[in-house]
This record gives sequence, C-alpha cells and structure tokens, in this order.
Amino acid sequence: MKFLIVANWKMHPATFADAKKLFDATKKAAAASSAQIVVAAPAIFVRDLARGYRGSIDFALQNAHFEKEGAFTGETSLAQAKDAKVSWVIVGHAERRSMGESNDDTKKKLAAALALGMKVILCIGEKERNSAGDHFTFIREQLGVAIGGMAPVLLKKVVIAYEPVWAIGASTPMSARDMHEMSIFIRKTVVELIGAGGHAVRVLYGGAIDEATAAPMLSDGDVTGLLVGRVSADPKRIGFLLKAIEQ
Ligand code: PGA
Repeated sequence: MKFLIVANWKMHPATFADAKKLFDATKKAAAASSAQIVVAAPAIFVRDLARGYRGSIDFALQNAHFEKEGAFTGETSLAQAKDAKVSWVIVGHAERRSMGESNDDTKKKLAAALALGMKVILCIGEKERNSAGDHFTFIREQLGVAIGGMAPVLLKKVVIAYEPVWAIGASTPMSARDMHEMSIFIRKTVVELIGAGGHAVRVLYGGAIDEATAAPMLSDGDVTGLLVGRVSADPKRIGFLLKAIEQ
C-alpha cells in the first residue's frame, strides 16, 4: 500500500502567491514520489489551488463545521469544501481541540464527512504521558466517541492520525518504537469498537516529523503514513522529506 503523507499547512503562508509557490514545489516533489499526498491548505486558498489541477494530489480542509449550512459565522461547511474539489477533511486536530472542539464535535464532523462521501483524517493524541499509562485510557476514550458503533465498511474512508500533543511543534518526534506500541494499541481498540474489520485501519503518525525522521518512522513505527506540519509549509523541505522516504 502507498504511504499517505498529509501536508498540514496550518495557517501558512500569508499570501496566495506564496501558497501557489508552495503548491508548485509540492507538486514537483509529488511527481517523483510513490506516496499519496494530501494537501491541507488554508480554506481560503483551496479552491484556487485546485482550479485546473489534474494531478494525483488530493486536497483536505483542516477543519469544517458538521452542519450543511446555517448561521455559523466564520465556519466552512463540508458541502462547501466538496464544491471546491476538497475530498478529505482533518477532524479533531489538537489545535482545534484546544480551541474548544469536544470529542462529540469531532464525532459529528466525522459522521457528516462520511455522509457526504468524503475521506477523514481523525486526529487523536494525549496531552501528556505518565508512568501509569493513562494516555492509553485517554486514546481509547477519544476513539470510542469518534468511531464507536461505526459501520466497519466506512473505515476504508477514515485514517487515524495519532499525534501526541506534546510532540506537535516540538523539536523531535516521539520514538518509532513508542509509535509501534501505540499503533498496535489503536488497532486493538478499533477492533474492540467495531469488530474484526477494524484491524485494517490505517494509522498515521504526526508531530515534529522532518526530512530526517520521516523514513525511520515509516519503517519502524508500524504506520502507513505521516501528518506533517511545519516542514510541509516549507517549499524546500517538503521536497527533501518526500525524497527521503523514497530511499
Ligand atoms: P508539526 O505539526 O509537524 O509542525 O509538529 C504536526 C501537526 O500538528 O499536524
């Protein structure tokens, strides 16, 4: 299976001219890559980036509202995203959760996206770890609310991005060894929640991944892809990262 690399640009760059340059660099790097690339650009740039584009890169929204339309000042709906050629949405990112998104909101966004036939990157991750292993309970809770009771066939449209909050924006990622343990735990939990079909769930790692740590995480972390923040918003470094994982 192809690796999935999600480029989460967050609130970068400041101008559309720079977004176009970044997308051009990403396209060039993607052309030489065997990975599936998803670009989660700021909502205001997506339609123009996607216009006329026919390549293999998919577009994602970084967040969306679960209602189709309505009096929700400042929000973007999934239907609006779909109309702009967006086929994926990130739900439950730690930076949205820290602004008040609850497990229940994340679940509603996930369900709304699946109802529209969109694909979902479901972010989960604990804020901190202790020696008692409470983070496993925390992850089980996040997963339980988001996908508990979901029809197993829908899992084909969902990837789980495990992002320990303490590694997002940090200088180094979590170790691949710890990710391997977490991947096993996530699959086991998904099987408990939705049955044996859950074993096939795709798990990504996110948090401080760069051109040096991407390949080791893919080979030893038991993951099928990566969610990349800062490095994906740098036209040179996204190229280095995609090149590094080919070797
Ligand atoms: P980072 O962000 O790669 O800049 O740590 C990852 C993320 O938040 O998705």
